Amino acid sequence: MSRKLFTYQGTDLHFGPNAYPLKSAVKNYQQPIWLYDLAIIEERVRWIQSWPQLGRLHYAMKANFNLDILKLFKKLNCGLDVVSVGEMKHALKAGFTGADFIFSGVAKSRAELAWAIENEIYQINVESFSELKRIIDIANQQKKIVSVDLRVNPEVDAETHPSIATALKDSKFGLDFPAAQLAIDLIAQNKCVQLKALSFHLGSQIMNVKVFEKALTIMKPFYQKAKSICPELDRFDLGGGLGIDYKNADSAIDQQRWDELAALFSRELKAMNAFLLLEMGRFLVARSSVLIARVEIIKEVLNGKKFMILDAGMSLLMRPALYQAYHEILPIYKRGEETETYDIVGPICESTDVLMLNKKFSKVEEGDFVAICDTGAYGAAMTSRYNLREESAEIFI
Ligand SMILES: Cc1ncc(COP(=O)(O)O)c(C=O)c1O
Repeated sequence: MSRKLFTYQGTDLHFGPNAYPLKSAVKNYQQPIWLYDLAIIEERVRWIQSWPQLGRLHYAMKANFNLDILKLFKKLNCGLDVVSVGEMKHALKAGFTGADFIFSGVAKSRAELAWAIENEIYQINVESFSELKRIIDIANQQKKIVSVDLRVNPEVDAETHPSIATALKDSKFGLDFPAAQLAIDLIAQNKCVQLKALSFHLGSQIMNVKVFEKALTIMKPFYQKAKSICPELDRFDLGGGLGIDYKNADSAIDQQRWDELAALFSRELKAMNAFLLLEMGRFLVARSSVLIARVEIIKEVLNGKKFMILDAGMSLLMRPALYQAYHEILPIYKRGEETETYDIVGPICESTDVLMLNKKFSKVEEGDFVAICDTGAYGAAMTSRYNLREESAEIFI
């Protein structure tokens, strides 16, 4: 049975499992609104936490660092995957502690590593040989024993948009196998670092879960080899990356995709005696938000093309301009059955500020409202102040 997250009741668009009428959100509209439904996030966390083999789910907070969202993840006993000290300090405000952090990132500075080591964070995911040497240096200075993970690049094509694939042969992320082997040898010679985990992260918006099987086939023998040198190794971090269908906001289908991945993990990892970690971002939060915008101008040009120019564009939602990402756009109320074809664009002074071209859409008038769907991940988190437009608001149902 389908569980659609956007439904019309008569002419009015409703959002979320409890069918919130979006018309209510625009009553005192002043600027674009990110409207969230936390129940959507909570439901997804529960799907994943009910996978029996899971060690701990870490939320990749780069996807959305809103404090209320972080507090929900804390309440649900998730850890975090972070990529800067800035993120960690922000997460402390939501009640997280060092023990909750997995620290990823290709260019961690000495100061950041020193902060992470001083605060005894759960795991540092090492992405280069230089970084490992820095950690050893700082650990010696601070007289600490540091738990590290080696993020290995298994060179598996995640079959996603090239801009969000992270495990290709020429990716900047992670260690290739020869570098990982050198890193293991260095760790084995240094008592101040312990190899606690191995990880991989293939990329984002992965729709074909079979790519995880390919990665595991490559990673599992390497894990056993590493464990024979560093017996303290007992965590396997499977990264994040699970995607959603941006053209079909249906929770039942999302759940099926997770179930498929969980079954694959269970099968592939059953003989492996390791604490399993996940670092998911998009899959947990993307569906939780809708960006509400106003139709500011309708403009017809000489060739007959019609622009629907919104008051929200790439300075708020950068994904379409950045990598042609698709976000469904729906009218918050339908005026009738008549349709028009529009290029739906934002207000920003850049020609790439395009949300969607040639979209057949219910006929709208200036001052009408639209919902840009599935904007909870890499939406508000990526906003810029470009053009210094009014800041948007984030509100919760
Ligand atoms: C190391 C790492 N882990 C997890 C994630 C989360 O990815 P996603 O939001 O696709 O689940 C990212 C995203 O870029 C990442 O770089």
